[in-house]
Amino acid sequence: MEIIDGKKISAQIKEEIAADVKKMVEAGERAPHLVAIIVGNDGASETYVGHKEKACNQVGFESTVLRFADTITEKELLNEVQKLNEDDKVDGFIIQLPLPKHIDDQKIIEAIDPKKDVDGFHPVNMGRMVIGLPAYVSATPDGIMELIKRYNIETSGKSCVVIGRSNIVGKPIANLMLQKGADSTVTICHSRTKNIKEIASNADILIVALGVAEYVTADMVKEGATVIDVGITRVKSDKTKSGWKLLGDVKYDEVAPKCSYITPVPGGVGPMTIVSLMKNTLAARRNEYYK
Ligand code: GUN
Repeated sequence: MEIIDGKKISAQIKEEIAADVKKMVEAGERAPHLVAIIVGNDGASETYVGHKEKACNQVGFESTVLRFADTITEKELLNEVQKLNEDDKVDGFIIQLPLPKHIDDQKIIEAIDPKKDVDGFHPVNMGRMVIGLPAYVSATPDGIMELIKRYNIETSGKSCVVIGRSNIVGKPIANLMLQKGADSTVTICHSRTKNIKEIASNADILIVALGVAEYVTADMVKEGATVIDVGITRVKSDKTKSGWKLLGDVKYDEVAPKCSYITPVPGGVGPMTIVSLMKNTLAARRNEYYK
């Protein structure tokens, strides 16, 4: 059994990106510039955006955070999006979700120029990804694919089972595993699937993005499978200093011994998500996907 070390791989990729940026800047070019919009005072959003800013600094990107009060109207926010669409000094931008209730998330996402949509949430990027065109892929599925590639995990002809059908993880990862090049045979399970245990236990690659702590038990996993755990649920613990611990969607202690590869929580998929955003921003700076 090998533990997939997302922390190590993410640090490697950051170094690769930093080296590319250094070359760009030495050649007299402008460094990539990522902008994040935060609306209101959501503590989690501040934390996430703080991590993104830190990663930008580490790789040599310029980063800007635009903060707006939660009283901003949808129209005003659409206007801010338009300004960023038109700003030649901004390569990519993200609107940190969730937004206040009076603002329609989808309307805002669809106002982003797909060329600058480094979160990969715009339907144009989703659609391009599904039909195999170059596209910004959202952070979590892109991070998973990167881990699979860097650990040389065979996907061709393998049975891949995805548990969860969200727009930001389940649906895109199922499509990526199906693409030419990955070539897996993909099954998607969700809350209405009748025989999840039977389906999951046939998977060579099991990807779990359900958001239910320790949902996957050893009897649901085939001997020698690769298990990718996307879940992060914070639960109270008297064993940690903070009083909290993070649990994945997989009952790690009993599942890990059966696996050929497994991602831990934390330290598996999580650290990869930010580097995917950095990769997308670098690609946006180079205009790699939309020629
Ligand atoms: N909120 C939680 N995760 C994300 C993310 O990846 N992007 C954005 N924009 N908002 C989020």
